[in-house]
Amino acid sequence: MVASSQKILVTGGAGFIGTHTVVQLLNNGFHVSIIDNFDNSVMEAVDRVRELVGSNLSQNLEFTLGDLRNKDDLEKLFAKSKFDAVIHFAGLKAVGESVANPRRYFDNNLVGTVNLYEVMAKHNCKKMVFSSSATVYGQPEKIPCVEDFKLQAMNPYGRTKLFLEEIARDIQKAEPEWKIILLRYFNPVGAHESGKLGEDPRGIPNNLMPYIQQVAVGRLPELNVYGHDYPTRDGSAVRDYIHVMDLADGHIAALRKLFTTENIGCTAYNLGTGCGSSVLEMVAAFEKASGKKIALKLCPRRPGDATEVYASTEKAEKELGWKAKYGVEEMCRDQWNWAKNNPWGYSGKP
Ligand code: WQD
Repeated sequence: MVASSQKILVTGGAGFIGTHTVVQLLNNGFHVSIIDNFDNSVMEAVDRVRELVGSNLSQNLEFTLGDLRNKDDLEKLFAKSKFDAVIHFAGLKAVGESVANPRRYFDNNLVGTVNLYEVMAKHNCKKMVFSSSATVYGQPEKIPCVEDFKLQAMNPYGRTKLFLEEIARDIQKAEPEWKIILLRYFNPVGAHESGKLGEDPRGIPNNLMPYIQQVAVGRLPELNVYGHDYPTRDGSAVRDYIHVMDLADGHIAALRKLFTTENIGCTAYNLGTGCGSSVLEMVAAFEKASGKKIALKLCPRRPGDATEVYASTEKAEKELGWKAKYGVEEMCRDQWNWAKNNPWGYSGKP
C-alpha cells in the first residue's frame, strides 16, 4: 500500500476523467492538488468531488485556477508544495476542433506540457503519469492494439499526443532518473455511480456517448450514425469503450507502479477493456439502460475514422495488476443515471 501522505499534482483535474480520478486518489489516501484553467470544466465539478469524498478527505484536496502555458502559475504551485508525482490530464481533446484550429492544440497541449516538465525538473519532481490516447495507433493494421505497435497520427489532436509521447521518451532517455507512465485511453464513457459526476462537454458533443446522452434527455433531436457500411458485424464502426471509473483506477495502479518500481523508465500501457462494441450496439445498450428511444440518421463515414479499434489488455494486467471491471451495461447504466439527474450538465440550465 502506498504511503497515505503522498501528494499528487493533477493537471486538468476538474475535467471528466480528472474528477473521477481525484475521487479515487482521495479515497486511496493520497493528498491532491488540482490545477485547471476551466477551458473545458467548471468549479461545480470540483465542489461535487468534495461532496462525494466527505469533509475529512476534502481537507486533502486543494484547487488552483491556473494555466500550464503560464509558467508562473506552475512555479507558484511548486514553490509552496512538494509533489511526489504528477498526473497530467490538462489538454484539448476534440478531433474535429483540432483539424479546424491546430495552432490552438499545439499551444495548449505541447507548450503547456513542456512548461510542466521544466518546472517539475527544477523542483526535482520526476514521476509523471501522462494522459495519452489510443489515437496514437491511428488506423491500426491489425487488432487488438498492442503497445509496441507502430504509432501514427491521423489529426492534429492525435499528433499532439504522439509528439508528447516522444517528448516523454526523449526526456527519460536523457535523464534516467525520470519515471514516466503513458496511459493510452481507448474510449472513456460512463459516470460515477452516484450520478453526481459525469461528462459535460462544451457545445455540441464530438464523441458518441455524450451525444447519445443528449438525444436521450431531449437536448438533441437525433444521432448521426457516421458510417453504416463498415466491414463489421452490423456495418457501424467498432471501438473499445471503457468505464471512466475503471480508467480512474488505472491511474491509481500506475501511480503505485511508479512508487514501487525502480527501472520503469518511460512505459506505455493500454487502458481498455479488450472488447469492441459497434455504434449501433452502444445505441441499443443505452436505449435499454434509459428506456428511451434514440432517433438515428444514417450518414456517410466521418473522415479519419478507423473501422475497428480495441485494446490488448495483457501488459496492463501483468505489469500494473489492473483490469477493467465494468461492461457496456454498467457504462450505460451510470451514464444514464448522470444524464437523467443532470440533463444540462453541471450548469443545470440550457
Ligand atoms: C466513436 C465512434 C464515430 C459521434 C476520439 C479520440 C480519442 C478519444 C475519444 C479523447 C466513431 C461514431 C461519433 C457521433 C457517430 N478522445 N460517432 N456519431 O473517434 O473513437 O475517439 O474520442 O480522449 O482520442 O480519437 O470517439 O466517440 O468520437 O467516435 O456515429 O455523433 O462513434 O464515427 O465510429 P473516437 P468518438
